[in-house]
Amino acid sequence: MKNIIDDLIHLVSKKTGLCIRERDLEKFLQKIEERVKQGNFSDLISYYELLQKNTLASEKEWKELFLLLTVAESYFFRDIDQFLVLKKILLPKILEAKKTEKTIRIWSAGCCAGEEPYSIAIILKELLGDMHGWNILILGNDINEEVLQKARKGIYTPWSLRDLSPEIKKLYFKENKGLWELDPKICQMVKFTHCNLVEDVFPSWASELHSMDIIFCRNVFIYFSQDTVGMIANKLSQTLNEQGYLITGHGELYAQKLKYLKPKIYNGCVVYHKKTLAEIQSAAFIAPEKIANRRTNTPPNILIKILPETKKNIFQKTSSPSFLEKEKLTIEDIQLLFKKADYKKVVEEGKKICLLCDDSLELLFLMAQSYANMAKYENAIRMCLKIIKKEISYMKAYFLLSQIYKILGDRDKAKSFLQNVIYLDPYFVLAYIELGELWEDEGDSKNAKKMFSTALEILESLPHTPVLPYKEITTEELIKYLQKILKKY
Ligand SMILES: C[S@@+](CC[C@H](N)C(=O)[O-])C[C@H]1O[C@@H](n2cnc3c(N)ncnc32)[C@H](O)[C@@H]1O
Repeated sequence: MKNIIDDLIHLVSKKTGLCIRERDLEKFLQKIEERVKQGNFSDLISYYELLQKNTLASEKEWKELFLLLTVAESYFFRDIDQFLVLKKILLPKILEAKKTEKTIRIWSAGCCAGEEPYSIAIILKELLGDMHGWNILILGNDINEEVLQKARKGIYTPWSLRDLSPEIKKLYFKENKGLWELDPKICQMVKFTHCNLVEDVFPSWASELHSMDIIFCRNVFIYFSQDTVGMIANKLSQTLNEQGYLITGHGELYAQKLKYLKPKIYNGCVVYHKKTLAEIQSAAFIAPEKIANRRTNTPPNILIKILPETKKNIFQKTSSPSFLEKEKLTIEDIQLLFKKADYKKVVEEGKKICLLCDDSLELLFLMAQSYANMAKYENAIRMCLKIIKKEISYMKAYFLLSQIYKILGDRDKAKSFLQNVIYLDPYFVLAYIELGELWEDEGDSKNAKKMFSTALEILESLPHTPVLPYKEITTEELIKYLQKILKKY
């Protein structure tokens, strides 16, 4: 019995990408049992045998099973912030870039009953007004045929409209016997087709699944294994145009190493931007130590402490230690001076070394940190900018800049540098925590919560053993800290 259950789980995972965990097993088996009964199969083995076949009957049964296994829940303008980013930032950019070509292609992958692609269509209509002369494709697809049928009808219960503004509701919906009918002009803007994101091949020139300007794939990955998510994210990114955007559910791609995409934060929402060919190629040829510098799961241990417990002490100066005077100091000597908090000497000796020969990034960064620790912020900023000019992807300099601007009270700059940090290292948890705290201070609890949840998701996806930077704090302790903060929301 156990073997056949394992085989079934394996087959379902392979076909649908669904990850059936220990805790899902009971429900999964109930659903299978339901299908075995309804289909009059003699036992689990004969059911499994049918699913394994490549026949019309098997295809039909898979459709029935998809209905039971997939969670089909959506509503109009779900996660309004992402739609605001679409309306205010992404679409205006694309429309401008395409004003001559006048073609725009958007895909809502895992579109459920159409709420997501229709929300996109409403925004496009609002932005373009008269769409004459534009060649627009908004494609919605799903593995579940039943929801696709509903989508084509464009009729919804009030529950699907629960987050809709009264103005949009009035403009685009008509009530009929307690249900809401979407304006046929909006319905006509969206094309619905069946697609299994796991099995189907894309990009594909034989179907519409190619050259997308924007792909929405939100709240679909949550039930998949990380391997499946990685595989689909890869296919989706290749289905984007150069410079196209992928929008996923919050935090759904954090555990992924994304070869073709770079995360960007707009108004607190992470959007994945397709890398240019040059960026993809240059990443492939960067020396290994530079890659480590760009994207690392373990933040460097020479940054200033910013963790909650030590926060008040950042940039705190301690008394100068005695130091063995030498004529010529090496970078190791400077590091030692820094460790002993003799920041003045780090700067003095650092300048001499720079003049002599070596203005390595490491030395410049030690000097930048020392200036910051002595509250000489202008010098620290200048030094960081010098570092960035030499090496644009030196993430630590951006992080230090964010810390300095936070202290100087320039929140916008602090946030902007933190966004650079996340771009260079999407796993740098502290940047999310810092952003969360900035937003929390500004009373923006929605964005703050998002950042803290993202930090937590990243931490939970990392092994618990490594000690986070700043040695005293482990991943587990930081998880507890974030869980405590998140309870407030
Ligand atoms: C929770 S809904 C999300 C709907 C919408 N994207 C949103 O965010 O509101 C997930 C949808 O993904 C679909 N889905 C699940 N697995 C899929 C697969 N392998 N291929 C295509 N769609 C899938 C489900 O049928 C369901 O409609």
